[in-house]
Amino acid sequence: MKTDFDNKPTHIACIMDGNGRWAKQQGKPRTFGHRAGADAVSRCIESCIRHGIPMLTLYAFSSENWNRPSLEVKALMSLLHHFLKEKVSSLEKQDIRLSTIGNTAKLPAKTQQLLNRVVEQTKDNKTLHLVLALSYGSRDEIVEATKKIAHMAQSGQLNPEQITHELFEKHLDTAGMPDPDLLIRTSGEMRISNFLLWQISYTELFVTPTLWPDFSEKEFLEALTDYNTRHRKFGKI
Ligand code: IPE
Ligand code: IPE
Ligand code: MG
Repeated sequence: MKTDFDNKPTHIACIMDGNGRWAKQQGKPRTFGHRAGADAVSRCIESCIRHGIPMLTLYAFSSENWNRPSLEVKALMSLLHHFLKEKVSSLEKQDIRLSTIGNTAKLPAKTQQLLNRVVEQTKDNKTLHLVLALSYGSRDEIVEATKKIAHMAQSGQLNPEQITHELFEKHLDTAGMPDPDLLIRTSGEMRISNFLLWQISYTELFVTPTLWPDFSEKEFLEALTDYNTRHRKFGKI
């Protein structure tokens, strides 16, 4: 069902949480939840296209997730690789552009190569811009941006007085992207977990108790319906 909303987000960001708990509920290993989570990703992409949302950023793997047991990390990396391989043709067909934020240099070499290829191959697609946050941590991103700017100041390329919000944003992984209008977190946790700390300053938050593998058009619509009623003030009256 396509519903018309007066206020529709341009950019939705999702903290896809609860795969492990979903698997546990069914007495299955955590990786089973991650596999089901990949299907929820496909559904979420479909929902964005159906409702004309042009940008979606998905938190797929955090800088802290490297600290999980190595078998789980391996399973997540393998899942990512297979997901990308399987998706290449449908990304093209659905006119989806893929890009990434995060320290992708830490991903397995063959996945980096695959990612580079898909990013290049889809760069002119227009219907949806899908951004995967991979090995992403907002604190790392902010520290890296600060380092780059400090080097510019040290080498005399920049006067510290020229450091503005706009200049700072240009050095973040999200350079050129609009800030998210709506942030959805599944599994009921009321926290940000090091995601887009700078970019969500004025983002509307929507937390659903639904676990990510169960996330479907129903929850997507609930989030859009709720967002439609929000009065964004940006500090004004
Ligand atoms: C989200 O689900 C997926 C990743 C963080 C990669 P979790 O694996 O965090 O699931 P829970 O929170 O343990 O249920
Ligand atoms: C956030 O979920 C990271 C991703 C969804 C990729 P986590 O499960 O890692 O976050 P915490 O540990 O509950 O804060
Ligand atoms: Mg979690």
